[in-house]
Amino acid sequence: MKKIAVLTSGGDSQGMNAAIYAVVRMALDNGLEVVGIEDGYQGLIAGSVVPMNAKSVDGIIHRGGTVLRTSRCSAMKTDEGQNKAYKTLVDNNIDGLVVIGGDGSFQGAKILATKFGVLTMGIPGTIDNDLAYTDFTLGFDSAVNAVMQTIKMLRDTMSCNERSCVVEVMGRNCGDIALHAGITSAAEMIIVPEVRCSFEEVVARLKYNLEHGKKDNIVVLAEGAGKAVEMEAKLKQALPINLRSMVVGHLQRGGDASYADRLLGVRMGEHAVQCLLDGKTSRVVGIRHDVIIDEDIVEALSKRKSFDLNLYNLANRLVNSY
Ligand code: ADP
Ligand code: F6P
Repeated sequence: MKKIAVLTSGGDSQGMNAAIYAVVRMALDNGLEVVGIEDGYQGLIAGSVVPMNAKSVDGIIHRGGTVLRTSRCSAMKTDEGQNKAYKTLVDNNIDGLVVIGGDGSFQGAKILATKFGVLTMGIPGTIDNDLAYTDFTLGFDSAVNAVMQTIKMLRDTMSCNERSCVVEVMGRNCGDIALHAGITSAAEMIIVPEVRCSFEEVVARLKYNLEHGKKDNIVVLAEGAGKAVEMEAKLKQALPINLRSMVVGHLQRGGDASYADRLLGVRMGEHAVQCLLDGKTSRVVGIRHDVIIDEDIVEALSKRKSFDLNLYNLANRLVNSY
């Protein structure tokens, strides 16, 4: 093992830069040459390879986004794209690759490992926290903090107008951002794709709250469970309610990485480099009970993520007593 590469792919997330920082510095500390691949798999296919040194990662540990940039690249799903990606690695004498991204990006990493024998390690970078094999993914903590901050500001204006608001948050098909930001913002309702909640139940809850003098309700809606603007329209038809809606959107992916994401990025980056040095391949790094682990990529991707029903039930009980 002489030279490794690192790339970021899919939706960016806070903590990706911390992981890049650690991969580069740990590679150098171990006497390896290290390069960055720009723009995810798009750059790997196009041959966008940049040398990295200690200075390249100065001042990035806290920053959101990714200094290597990212992309969604359909060409990586084709034989032609995959062959070109492999050629870039061969042409640049790259012995090992660290892919920082979500489950889609891990599929690409798996192909490079299994089809071409590239030593490949994955680091979970996605705000969604939708990977079953790891307790946390990079960016989740920062995204939850961003949503909490948004709801805190929103409550100021909503409460003095006796107004309620449906707040749509990201997470694709996973309700973790909604659950964790919702419970820590004392949201009056949390709606997630993992737990069935009929429209009638939403109406009943808000009706009860309004009748008991709670006029400024925050309903956190995971994007996988519906659209805020549509729910606003339907609720206004069903209830005499002063209501607005908002989509937190990409703000959840912006801003500095939290302490937790910086530390996680650094720990995972170090572990990925160590695995490559140990000759491990086709594995993904994760964290379980605060221990950094690595697991076979196929096994990790085949696991079904479980939803924290206890936390969800607690969130409901905390707002039951009006
Ligand atoms: P994430 O990694 O955040 O889940 P995507 O699902 O968009 O994001 O995947 C990121 C990229 O990973 C895709 O744009 C594509 O380049 C690559 N990718 C996704 N699925 C596959 C697949 N089945 N085979 C090869 N590459 C894939
Ligand atoms: O997977 C990360 C994520 O931010 C999801 O939460 C969201 O559904 C999606 O990416 C948004 O994608 P884009 O950045 O392409 O709009």
